[in-house]
Amino acid sequence: MKDLVRRLTPAARITVLTGAGVSAASGVPTFRGKDGLWKNFRPEALATAEAFGRDPSLVWEWYAWRRFRIATCEPNAAHLALADLDRTGRLDLLITQNIDGLHLAAGSPPQRVIEIHGSIRDSVCLACGDRRPMVETLDRVRGGDPDPSCLVCGGVLKSATVSFGQNLDPALLARAEEAAAGCDLFLAVGTSLTVYPAARLPEIAVDAGARLVIVNAESTPLDGLADGVLRGEAGDLLSAIVAPVVAPT
Ligand code: OAD
Repeated sequence: MKDLVRRLTPAARITVLTGAGVSAASGVPTFRGKDGLWKNFRPEALATAEAFGRDPSLVWEWYAWRRFRIATCEPNAAHLALADLDRTGRLDLLITQNIDGLHLAAGSPPQRVIEIHGSIRDSVCLACGDRRPMVETLDRVRGGDPDPSCLVCGGVLKSATVSFGQNLDPALLARAEEAAAGCDLFLAVGTSLTVYPAARLPEIAVDAGARLVIVNAESTPLDGLADGVLRGEAGDLLSAIVAPVVAPT
């Protein structure tokens, strides 16, 4: 670990990709962990256009459950370490697959955070793009409307998160790919690196000559590509990695 930290410390341009493992210690369920189920449904069975078309009120109920769970969660040591890293001026971009907003809550600046799978804070109209706080839409569901439509154009509303089968925002993806290709260190933290196109970002970085470090509780399919793999709890490991970068001795 010490040797790895010594090699990381000089990195001038760092890009970070985070996943559900970073928020696990805050109490947000991971996707592929044992606590990822809700009423015996896997997220893949609910976060789709088909599930929404079949039973919108079930999907809104699931969003309300997830939003409530997330609303009670606080950033943990991993989020705080990445916000500290940002303050060193070496963090080019923090790309997160998480929709919980905890990096922003920890103080990472919005201009250097990309929520590549969207955010559960808002709902969005699929027709006109009108975006408003999710809580307003959920209030309408609670008030008896099982499938509220857009207040501006009457279009279909959904959570401002990316569903399975839905494309990512091309501008955000392009910015993430650019940051991956332009960094000298790519740090992947708390992600199974199994969901594309986000899982392509470490490969883009390595192809462009960056070093790759993976911090995760379990092995990932990209471990063989990495210069360093740290296995364990994201908060503990990130705190140890970032401390000497923030305050070099
Ligand atoms: P996963 O649930 O697939 O993976 C989380 C990873 O974090 C696993 O490999 C765990 O071993 C690891 N982990 C769990 N707790 C940890 C901890 N405390 N410290 C370190 N590692 C820990 O979540 P993601 O990779 O984020 O997409 O999943 C990617 C995407 O899959 C999600 O954004 C979501 C889902 O489909 C969409 O919703 C579009």
